[in-house]
Amino acid sequence: MAKGKEEKEEKVASDESAEPTLTDIPGIGPGIASKLEAAGVYDLMGLAVMSPSALSELAGVGEAVARKAIQAARSMMKLGFSDGVEFSKKRDDVFFLGTGSTNLNGLLGGRGIETKAITECYGAFGSGKTQLGLTLAVRVQLPKEQGGAQGKAVFIDTEGTFRPERVRQIAEGLGANPEKVLKNILVARAFNSDHQILLADKIGELIKNGEPIRLVIIDSLTAHFRAEFAGRGQLADRQQKLNRYLHGLMKMAEQHNLAVYVTNQVMANPAMMFGDPTTAVGGNIVAHASTYRIYLRRGKQGSRVAKLIDSPNLPDNECVFFVSKNGVVDENKD
Ligand SMILES: Nc1ncnc2c1ncn2[C@@H]1O[C@H](COP(=O)(O)OP(=O)(O)O)[C@@H](O)[C@H]1O
Ligand SMILES: [Mg+2]
Repeated sequence: MAKGKEEKEEKVASDESAEPTLTDIPGIGPGIASKLEAAGVYDLMGLAVMSPSALSELAGVGEAVARKAIQAARSMMKLGFSDGVEFSKKRDDVFFLGTGSTNLNGLLGGRGIETKAITECYGAFGSGKTQLGLTLAVRVQLPKEQGGAQGKAVFIDTEGTFRPERVRQIAEGLGANPEKVLKNILVARAFNSDHQILLADKIGELIKNGEPIRLVIIDSLTAHFRAEFAGRGQLADRQQKLNRYLHGLMKMAEQHNLAVYVTNQVMANPAMMFGDPTTAVGGNIVAHASTYRIYLRRGKQGSRVAKLIDSPNLPDNECVFFVSKNGVVDENKD
């Protein structure tokens, strides 16, 4: 009787997992697989990018066994070069999340922020970075035809500026049920940079449990890092940690086909004599990791000016939008 049930469960599991899993790798049984999962390594990709020494330490196996396991994962994953056509296939399922402003969507190539990419907004206090995040968290829940993905959003709040009442207001503006919209936003307050990193690791778990997460917002990406590594001598450590974190975010975006939106602060750049003397925090590390960078500032008559910086495929350009009661919009009709 019990055996019959076991067999049935096994069959269901194998039907669901057409893709090889960790336990398909020689040397990795359920015990090691659960240790790996506890450390945030859920699949072959996670294993393939590990170093033998890290795996050996984590799983409590010899380095030779670890090396073999990593090699097996890599060959199963077919890591390496792919031709242009293959590469473009990998991007076939990329989609976009509308921002609420056709101007801002246009700046980003027409349809909004992209999945399998990190979009960064940097700008002064009050420039609208959080408002764009809140608007996206509501709009990701819309159907595809309306620029959404019928998905949920994760909001990692490091500055304590997430406002449920603001989400309700934006949802109402779209004619949506405010309480339902709030339920589809998974919010966590990150108290320091380690906590912030840990929360990002947890997202893989949520997705594995079936949460249809299509957008991850980190507001702000850099505030904790900046505050905790304030001394000159700590800059290299900070950048290394930030780099690892950003790579993790990008991997998550690619693996799960979701959009990542991060906000960033600016600092005065005293070396600059003309123009706007502000520079994004995080230096080259953040600049290189962000697929799309937007510089946001206040414009005339309550408008916001968004400038696209160094995009891989779009011209540097500027546009104007507004933050209204209904969130991000083209024109302020309030
Ligand atoms: N309900 C609202 N209606 C209209 N504008 C709003 C509303 N809430 C916030 N704003 C605008 O957004 C600004 C704050 O933007 P925010 O995104 O919090 O800035 P930051 O770039 O610091 O994250 C406010 O100064 C105001 O201009
Ligand atoms: Mg903010």
